[in-house]
Amino acid sequence: MYNVAKIRADFPILSREVNGKPLVYLDNGASAQKPQVVIDAITRSYANEYANVHRGLHYLSNLATDNYEAVRGKIAKFLNAVSENNIIFNSGTTEGINMVAYGWAMPNLKAGDEIILSVMEHHANIVPWHFLRERQGVVLTWVDVDATGALDPQAVIDAITPKTKLIAITHMSNVLGTKVDVKSICAGAHAKDVPVLVDGSQSAVHMAVDVQDIDADFYAITGHKLYGPSGSGAIYVKPERMAEMQPFLGGGDMIREVSKDGVVYNDSPMKFEAGTPGIVQMIGLGTAVDYMMDHGMEAIASHENSLRDYAISKLAGLNWINVQGTTPDKGAIFSFTMDGAAHPHDISTILDKKGVAVRAGQHCTGPLMEHLGLNATCRASFAMYNTTAEIDIWIDALELAHDLFG
Ligand code: ALA
Repeated sequence: MYNVAKIRADFPILSREVNGKPLVYLDNGASAQKPQVVIDAITRSYANEYANVHRGLHYLSNLATDNYEAVRGKIAKFLNAVSENNIIFNSGTTEGINMVAYGWAMPNLKAGDEIILSVMEHHANIVPWHFLRERQGVVLTWVDVDATGALDPQAVIDAITPKTKLIAITHMSNVLGTKVDVKSICAGAHAKDVPVLVDGSQSAVHMAVDVQDIDADFYAITGHKLYGPSGSGAIYVKPERMAEMQPFLGGGDMIREVSKDGVVYNDSPMKFEAGTPGIVQMIGLGTAVDYMMDHGMEAIASHENSLRDYAISKLAGLNWINVQGTTPDKGAIFSFTMDGAAHPHDISTILDKKGVAVRAGQHCTGPLMEHLGLNATCRASFAMYNTTAEIDIWIDALELAHDLFG
């Protein structure tokens, strides 16, 4: 039985006040809060179990290495990867996608080759591909979303030409909440020998992800949205793509031998992990994914779907709120504007006075904002610990903002 009160008690920050009001934290799309078990894992690592990994022959180094390497299996389980050797650790989705851009796409693509993107990608899944456009003459092909924010998988597949070398697509929009049918996109793309990179930054926290079922070539996740530490993350890479990939960063740990004349690289996945990694961050992430899996991704998704439906029913009563992204099965992410002169920054300031934390701005999605004809929105994004009572407080605060600005 999903017990949201018990879950809330696991997150110490949720009991604090902001501006004299109980915190209503609805900025989870930007970064989620951390349960005590994650905070404890970080403290325990630094207080009692810390040394560098993979290097020492002493007790603490071996202990830290064991704790750190155990996370690879946890993330493989979380994503249902066939092997932990397909999981490359990194600092988050931005690094994961840049690693694919530098290590796989730059060596394999040439001028005139095409990469397909949707218009609702986050800048982390746009800017690395612009690097290829600027530096190598690669062409970016954009697929639009419809008026509800839905992305037709067939439109993505239809955009494939003989020059298409990659599709880079989000699994869930950080602005619209739209879920993308990446499984159908992978099937259609693979039928034409085109690999698919999936940005799982938002999806992995809201729903069960099965990279084998999706058949993604690359699937990137970020720890700080998964109730884990910032600076932690991972990317799943299919074995055949890993074999095609060159190291992105060079340094210690990713090599077996270095001489004046050359380098022998370490085995994958360590070949792609240079330098001292985010040891404690990754250990914290391992604890966070265990925490999520202990509650069950289906149960978390079901709770968040109830929050989404409740929020939709309440927002329906506010005809001066315009929600962007209205697909019925969307994730619990609501970007909105208010009729009248109120700027999203002003709305978020009023909400903050009531203890309600939302994000306002472009949400790192310039092309989507252009598509929507907007400069900015407010965004309320929900997590496993939010409640319908918090939605009521959010709605009351919106009514106050409307009274002030309307
Ligand atoms: N990508 C994060 C967001 O959507 C920062 O807010």
